[in-house]
Amino acid sequence: MLIAQISDCHIRDQGGWFARLVDTTETLRRVVDHLVGLDPAPDVILATGDLTDDGTASQYATLLDVLAPIADRLLPIPGNHDECPLFRGAFADVLPGNLADDHCSYVVEDHPVRLVGLDNSIPGRHDGRFDPVRERWLDDVLAADPDRPTLVFTHFPPFETGLRFMDDAGLLDSDRLRAVIERNPQVRLLVTGHLHRPIHTAIGSTLVSTCPSTGNQIRLDLHPERGAAVDEPPAYQLHRWDGERFVTHTGMVRDPASVQTVSLDGFVAEIRRRLEAGEPFAKE
Ligand SMILES: [Fe+2]
Ligand SMILES: [Fe+2]
Repeated sequence: MLIAQISDCHIRDQGGWFARLVDTTETLRRVVDHLVGLDPAPDVILATGDLTDDGTASQYATLLDVLAPIADRLLPIPGNHDECPLFRGAFADVLPGNLADDHCSYVVEDHPVRLVGLDNSIPGRHDGRFDPVRERWLDDVLAADPDRPTLVFTHFPPFETGLRFMDDAGLLDSDRLRAVIERNPQVRLLVTGHLHRPIHTAIGSTLVSTCPSTGNQIRLDLHPERGAAVDEPPAYQLHRWDGERFVTHTGMVRDPASVQTVSLDGFVAEIRRRLEAGEPFAKE
């Protein structure tokens, strides 16, 4: 099973200080084009929050227009820059029927891996919450099928990244979410957004990663008193489940006009030929 992930698209109206870096509508369009062209194609595409910048109706309209080519495979979850009632309305045709009542969390059962979307955003706030209500919801969902490999996707990561200013306005109750993951080792992978960088760690036996943004990234700078957004390339991730383990790839999507490639197709064919002939991979 192949699971793509996009995050932190931050579709915005014209202007604003981030707009000096990138046109997030344009970069998301480019990422969507890229995802449509992938072969093999991802079975599902997770979108882990901050899909708009301010959660307005006009931003959701732009977002839906850009995401239309992948809408049939899309599984979105809100972030702190989204607004839940409008989010629910915008994605009414995409979200499954088992959506929780007071948060936008849900489960998708019809794949080899159970996919659990966890909403840990709070309306009107920029930090996140994993309160006892959400804890009970996630515990119940995971207890319903404890032996099936499961992927949980959410916006806020439940660990300190070392990017201090992002951690300081992060998830309240991180320890509560980590405890749920630790007592449910069938959660093989936990993927999040919010950090605008690819970051990896583990909670118990569960792999944990954050996805870069389809717009701007956060500069890798662990100095506690600095922070910056940076125009590193738009990116996405592919999580490949082979029946035994997840392997995560990070792909960058630059303007196709500026990308140079050297074909390795001949080399690929030669490797395959040697493998099938049982020849050693000796240096010539
Ligand atoms: Fe974001
Ligand atoms: Fe965020």
